Amino acid sequence: MVTCSNILVVTILILVSNFNIGIWLVNGCSGRDFRCGPDGPRIRFPFRLKDKETEQSCGYNGFDLTCSDTNKTQIEFPSPSGAIILQVMKIIYPDNLLYVTDPENCLPSQFVKLLRSPISPFQFSESPGFRYNFTILHCSSSLCPVIVDSNRTLFDSGLDPILCTKTSDFTSSTAYTVLDNNYLVLTWSKPNCSKCEKEGKMCDLNC
Ligand SMILES: *[C@@H]1O[C@H](CO)[C@@H](O)[C@H](O)[C@H]1NC(C)=O
Ligand SMILES: *[C@@H]1O[C@H](CO)[C@@H](O)[C@H](O)[C@H]1NC(C)=O
Ligand SMILES: *[C@@H]1O[C@H](CO)[C@@H](O)[C@H](O)[C@H]1NC(C)=O
Ligand SMILES: *[C@@H]1O[C@H](CO)[C@@H](O)[C@H](O)[C@H]1NC(C)=O
Repeated sequence: MVTCSNILVVTILILVSNFNIGIWLVNGCSGRDFRCGPDGPRIRFPFRLKDKETEQSCGYNGFDLTCSDTNKTQIEFPSPSGAIILQVMKIIYPDNLLYVTDPENCLPSQFVKLLRSPISPFQFSESPGFRYNFTILHCSSSLCPVIVDSNRTLFDSGLDPILCTKTSDFTSSTAYTVLDNNYLVLTWSKPNCSKCEKEGKMCDLNC
């Protein structure tokens, strides 16, 4: 016999399980941080470590990371000339910042490809008010292209101008980190877990 209280119990059970699934998916499936190596960045929602959390829905779309054979944290971007694989050095969750470098040690080349590729859901971290002009050079002394800013002459860069060909110019406010620090800073705006991260809470639907 179907009683009112039976229906009520079933309804509550359905509500509770739906609620749990919602929170569970948004938090990532494990509810814990992963790392590729002891010094690697902590990996948690919105990122998903593909090898450990197999469900696509454990992370936010586009935030998939993998571990390399040498336990380095990696992120992949599609590009017309094939996938761009970068090493993730640092993730600053409260500020939505992702620091990446090139595991093959030629970041200028990867940066040039990224400028022509969709990097969504990320953007280059821009410094407001800083727009610098850069030139990309190919020098016969190196397989890796060289980025120089418009203020620095080739002479300053220590390269022999006779051996270099200028390939293109571009304006950017972010290239200086490639130039000076050998890393690139990416940012994301959605999901914005900034407030919850700063309060030490997990990212969920209420953030
Ligand atoms: C990678 O990590 C695994 C598990 O922690 C470890 O067994 C392995 O030796 C590490 N490999 C390298 C190349 O560091
Ligand atoms: C960058 O190039 C543009 C156009 O060539 C020029 O107007 C601007 O002054 C340059 N900016 C810097 C910082 O050199
Ligand atoms: C280039 O030089 C100008 C004027 O000296 C300066 O204001 C600007 O900050 C310099 N740009 C870079 C990238 O150093
Ligand atoms: C994220 O949200 C915080 C406030 O909670 C805000 O200050 C910040 O600008 C937001 N970041 C982005 C990238 O939208």
